[in-house]
Amino acid sequence: MMWQFRFVIFCLVLTASSLSLSLPLSSPSEDSRYDEYSSSVCEVEKALPSMSSGGLVFFLHIPKTGGTTIRRNLERIERIDYIFAKNFSMYHDTASQVEETILHGRENNTILFYEIHATTAPSFFRLRKRLRRWRETAAQNQVPVFFFSLVREPVSYSFSHFNFFHLQKRNPSFERCNATEHDFIRKSVFNPQCQFLYKGEPSMRVQKNKNLQNNNITVHEQNCDMIQKEIIEQMDWVGTTAKLTNETLPLLSKLLDLPTSFTFENFRKIFLC
Ligand SMILES: *[C@@H]1O[C@H](CO)[C@@H](O)[C@H](O)[C@H]1NC(C)=O
Ligand SMILES: *[C@@H]1O[C@H](CO)[C@@H](O)[C@H](O)[C@H]1NC(C)=O
Ligand SMILES: *[C@@H]1O[C@H](CO)[C@@H](O)[C@H](O)[C@H]1NC(C)=O
Ligand SMILES: *[C@@H]1O[C@H](CO)[C@@H](O)[C@H](O)[C@H]1NC(C)=O
Ligand SMILES: *[C@@H]1O[C@H](CO)[C@@H](O)[C@H](O)[C@H]1NC(C)=O
Repeated sequence: MMWQFRFVIFCLVLTASSLSLSLPLSSPSEDSRYDEYSSSVCEVEKALPSMSSGGLVFFLHIPKTGGTTIRRNLERIERIDYIFAKNFSMYHDTASQVEETILHGRENNTILFYEIHATTAPSFFRLRKRLRRWRETAAQNQVPVFFFSLVREPVSYSFSHFNFFHLQKRNPSFERCNATEHDFIRKSVFNPQCQFLYKGEPSMRVQKNKNLQNNNITVHEQNCDMIQKEIIEQMDWVGTTAKLTNETLPLLSKLLDLPTSFTFENFRKIFLC
């Protein structure tokens, strides 16, 4: 298969997201505009690293992009030491294991799979210098690393975001809403994926307050351009939620050398909510 030898980096992934919600709910042009962007990918000749004697996989998990499916499947694999840095204290307590790995490699050919996600965990923007250093240190010590993330088509993302944060009961710190077009539009924010990467999840609670005119929290287009550039520079792979099953999961199977009998189970109905 072709991707065994090379893989595709989505150069314009966040540009696609930055189309944001200035489009009304059912604009007929949104799909074609997105297609225009998503087809502007660039293919890069680049081999997957060999993890046969262990290594580090860094997973930057943007909420509502399908990352839970990845975690639930991979955390049950024996050779993978899965760390889920779901908040600041988890990150704080476990980052030393990454440091250890990039300095000295792994014992017994194990793979450290390090996922950063949600609540108070540091944003990609805050982490960027550290991530850069992790890569450099690993390269100096010849420890194989693979950094990746997933992004989602922006209209589908905004529905999912609204559903998860404003309709479901498990997010009490976000305003409860009714499933109406009015509330959906009222609660829609500019480029939430960029917001998450730049300022982290806590900032999204405040951004919702549209009374804060010219607030300091909302991301702006130039912030997102910068984030996009940084993501492309630092990630080895940025997949899309829509093609999770066809691209990112097979790529991970290859990278992690999973047995051919292994199949990924789907843990969330990510395409519906
Ligand atoms: C962070 O997550 C861990 C693991 O679920 C939990 O035990 C801990 O209480 C959380 N810390 C904070 C400050 O929420
Ligand atoms: C690696 O394998 C050896 C032999 O099975 C075992 O003694 C050792 O504890 C393992 N190391 C780790 C970090 O699991
Ligand atoms: C949701 O709908 C109910 C019933 O129509 C109404 O009483 C309530 O105020 C609405 N909530 C919001 C947040 O608009
Ligand atoms: C935004 O926040 C920074 C520091 O957090 C502050 O120095 C600056 O004055 C604020 N700008 C506005 C427009 O409020
Ligand atoms: C995924 O691959 C299958 C089989 O090759 C194909 O039928 C399907 O259309 C693909 N789905 C997407 C979203 O590309």
